[in-house]
Amino acid sequence: MAVKPPLIARLSTDLATLGEPELLDLVRSRPVPQHVAVIMDGNGRWATGRGLPRVAGHREGVKAARAVTRAADALGLRYLTLYAFSTENWSRPVQEVSMLMSLLERSIHDELPELMERNVRLRVIGRTEGVPAPVQRGINHVVRETARNSGLTLLMAFNYGGRDELLDAVRSLARRVALGELKPDEICERDVSAGLYTRDVPDPDLLIRTSGEMRVSNFLLWQIAYTELCFTPTLWPDFGPADLYRAVAEFQGRTRRFGGV
Ligand code: FPP
Repeated sequence: MAVKPPLIARLSTDLATLGEPELLDLVRSRPVPQHVAVIMDGNGRWATGRGLPRVAGHREGVKAARAVTRAADALGLRYLTLYAFSTENWSRPVQEVSMLMSLLERSIHDELPELMERNVRLRVIGRTEGVPAPVQRGINHVVRETARNSGLTLLMAFNYGGRDELLDAVRSLARRVALGELKPDEICERDVSAGLYTRDVPDPDLLIRTSGEMRVSNFLLWQIAYTELCFTPTLWPDFGPADLYRAVAEFQGRTRRFGGV
């Protein structure tokens, strides 16, 4: 009987053919990223491709988000950031926006027992004050209940825009300058980072975008300066744990130079 080469030697040849448990073992045997961010794209196309209403794609998208959160926990990631609703998403048809709001609120509410069981902490980044009050209250409840959990931190970007986040940081710095607390020439990168919604979160090591689109769409603009990017044609509802593990394996094979040599 032929002897199977070690997993690591097979990495480049058959990553695509490895099953979920083997992929998990493989990526866990090497240093895992601390923070993975995901632009979950393609729910609408997933649904229309099947002759279904777009809402069906968003419902499947919620299932994918749940599975990927479990996978991130299994991997031992410290932070997983999911782009759930952008400031640009308000321009969608009113019905889709209100359906998305209630779907996101309900999913987060229903997830509370499992988040507690898995010791996952939920945080929200974005202008949450701009979302309907009942949605805000529902989400804040889960954020409060999970605040003391010490495992994976799940950051949900909700009513989030990268430029808005930078504007908010610039405004708070300008206020400090006006109060005489800070001198303009002394403002450093750390001050800008400290003014962001992600102030105490390390920058993402890896950003994944599904559905074949190759852009960053106003997501974490400051934070992704040195982030490794991974684009996959898979539509978000079809993206599962094995896809996350493959993206992490690809990340592990890259050399990060942070501008050096
Ligand atoms: C992209 O699909 C997805 C969104 C607009 C965000 C909504 C995400 C979910 C419902 C997933 C669940 C998330 C959480 C955190 C519970 P699209 O409508 O832009 O797809 P399209 O580009 O094919 O139209």
